[in-house]
Amino acid sequence: MSIPANPSSFDVVIIGAGAAGLFCAGIAGQRGQRVLLLDHSAKVAEKIRISGGGRANFTNLDVGPRNFLSDNPNFCRGALSRFTPRQFIALLQRDSIGFHEKHRGQLFCDRSAEDLIDLLLRECAAGGVVRWQPCAVREIRASADGPARYALATDRGEVQARSVVIATGGLSIPKIGASDFGYRIARQFGLRTVEQRPALVPLTFDERHWEAFAPLAGVSLPVDIATGEKKARTSFSEDLLFTHRGLSGPAVLQISSYWKTGTPISVDLSPQTALQPALQDAKATSRRLLGNVLGEHLPARLATAWTAGDAAWQRPANETADKALAALAASLHDWRSVPTGTEGYRKAEVTAGGVDTRDLSSQTMESRQAGLYFIGEVVDVTGWLGGYNFQWAWSSAYSCAQALAA
Ligand code: FDA
Repeated sequence: MSIPANPSSFDVVIIGAGAAGLFCAGIAGQRGQRVLLLDHSAKVAEKIRISGGGRANFTNLDVGPRNFLSDNPNFCRGALSRFTPRQFIALLQRDSIGFHEKHRGQLFCDRSAEDLIDLLLRECAAGGVVRWQPCAVREIRASADGPARYALATDRGEVQARSVVIATGGLSIPKIGASDFGYRIARQFGLRTVEQRPALVPLTFDERHWEAFAPLAGVSLPVDIATGEKKARTSFSEDLLFTHRGLSGPAVLQISSYWKTGTPISVDLSPQTALQPALQDAKATSRRLLGNVLGEHLPARLATAWTAGDAAWQRPANETADKALAALAASLHDWRSVPTGTEGYRKAEVTAGGVDTRDLSSQTMESRQAGLYFIGEVVDVTGWLGGYNFQWAWSSAYSCAQALAA
């Protein structure tokens, strides 16, 4: 670790030692910048550690602006093409870190997310990055132009720097260090922010639904899920999971990022089988109860609970009226319900909204306030489930680090 000539003076101070902060620090340090990286938590990168079930879904083979939400959907384009998934994969290969594709291009570490954290820490060490943890920043002041444009009051005294990078992430999972620091700093310097909300989060329902959901808790099945009308309609084909009080699973997490309070979601619970002809066939050939027939196409618990919802569906298939069969099929292909809300930041994987991209350069991540940069989740760029949020952290960090060293 190299010690700067004046121990309280750096080229750049990066606040937040998560995915984006660590990656940016390593690159900037290796390109000759004197970097101080600080975090108010004692441990680095807690979110990498718990991500992907402990194996970190660190990128996706197929990444483009369509996989992100933002008030400016094109903002992320430049950074994503400047530093691609292939470039991040090359780093893992260089260090012989095993990884595998799990589902639709999602890449996970073979062994543990710790391998990824160790890689990022090695990059920082190679760049002579100075790390202070735990260390909170109480205040950031912009001084007159010059080599030290910023003065930061920290738990370990005052430091000066030419540039400050905010990499403090979003609001999800406060118990492992999430804070609104980044948004506060943006507002302090007159930058706009897009309202924040929990995203990639389970949806909740009112008490009337709980009775219906309770016996289904744990049932999981592939669905098509959609929300929004006309041009604003968004849909995903993924697995849905029933919980005691609501809905979760990849399908619901994905759609939650697009769902607007008070609006319905619609779910096709049998996207691969057209149920009406299947039920009509059964009517012609079977005396079994409709619930049992349906159990050939859906998880048995769901089939039983669903047919219990109407007396006309509790009969043998051959005795059920065509109209009742059609209504049953329609109810399963277009199940509409209005969530009451989400599980909130306690359970959300990410925060949608953030520092408004209109006040940031898509080339460098520098804000309208010269020398002040924002990278990672704190920016109003939110990825789908599937490794996209980490890729945004790597790509935005890389653009910023290049600019710092230029
Ligand atoms: P990140 O949150 O990683 O880091 C922010 C850092 O800033 C933290 O270390 C924090 O302590 C620090 N900080 C905050 N406030 C501060 C302050 N006031 N002063 C000093 N330091 C401060 N994504 C993905 O692509 N694949 C996946 O598998 C998963 N899985 C996943 C699981 C779970 C449970 C969660 C909660 C999230 C994910 N994600 C994910 C999302 C992903 O973890 C997230 O988008 C990135 O970690 C964002 O990287 P950042 O560096 O921007 O923030």
